[in-house]
Amino acid sequence: MSEERVRRALLFMPGDDLHKISKGAELGVDSIIMDLEDGVALNRKIDARQNVFQALLTLNFGRTERLIRINAVQSGLAADDIAETIKARPDGYVVPKVETEDDLRFVIQSVMDFEQTLGYPIGGTKILAIIESARGVINLPEIANEGSPLVALIFGAEDLAGDIGAVRTREGKEVAYARSAVVLHAAAYDLEAIDTPFVNLTDLDGLKTETLDAMRMGYTGKLAIHPNQIQPIVDIFTPAPEEIAAAQRLIAAYEAHQASGTGVFAYEGRMVDAPMIRAAQRVLGRAKASGKI
Ligand code: COA
Ligand code: MG
Repeated sequence: MSEERVRRALLFMPGDDLHKISKGAELGVDSIIMDLEDGVALNRKIDARQNVFQALLTLNFGRTERLIRINAVQSGLAADDIAETIKARPDGYVVPKVETEDDLRFVIQSVMDFEQTLGYPIGGTKILAIIESARGVINLPEIANEGSPLVALIFGAEDLAGDIGAVRTREGKEVAYARSAVVLHAAAYDLEAIDTPFVNLTDLDGLKTETLDAMRMGYTGKLAIHPNQIQPIVDIFTPAPEEIAAAQRLIAAYEAHQASGTGVFAYEGRMVDAPMIRAAQRVLGRAKASGKI
């Protein structure tokens, strides 16, 4: 990864709500996503674009990444969402309901055309794609293979459930295949994988359980929809000091065994070989990205 950016928690807010955007700017969250899509009423779409544009020009977001979720390509609003906001220099766009590689191409091409016309670095504006439909899931191999400026796949469970006729449950079996498919394709193409938001605002234990589950599956971050959700998410995606120390010890033991010509060995009662080392290296990667080493 070229940039020193970590996306553990990404806080959504409606693009027409300046109060929430100002609040989001002060929280020190990794990323905020100012929404122009489903969090904004149809008759507020134009206001939301202008509000987001003004917010980007006037507020101080500190180190927080400033993302805009545009409307889906199929809505016919996406091109104007980009045209009306890009001059305020967002760090990236979140594209909902990506169903085909053409959807993604359309957005990337229009962003790059503006970058060229306006003299901005080409490909400098990041793209994050939400996979939240049956077609999006089955077309993942092409979508995930898009390359730069695509940096992340985001899993959207609520829209997916609606699309396939599934009923949402707490355990999430109904979306388990898709949730796995998103993280698998992200890993295959070196993208970040960001998990669906947890919509029960008062159930912080439920949020923690679901976030832990996502982290163990290989997800690198999770969407948040309320300020209270940020810290639990960040904590789970940031390795604890003991975890970092254990990973460092394991790698040191592995290297010592390698140097003496041993590939597999027993360590603290468990067999260790190359895959465990890759897992330990991932822990260190997350620790570095979070500024913990
Ligand atoms: N971003 C920034 N600030 C937020 C916020 C968010 N997502 N959600 C709540 N806040 C602020 C509120 O404005 C309030 O600020 P105040 O104390 O200065 O008045 C404070 O945090 C407490 O909020 P609370 O009263 O608990 O929630 P609410 O009833 O105002 O809002 C929601 C509830 C669900 C409407 C709100 O959390 C929200 O808009 N979430 C994001 C929804 C979204 O973007 N969805 C689309 C993607 S899934
Ligand atoms: Mg959605």
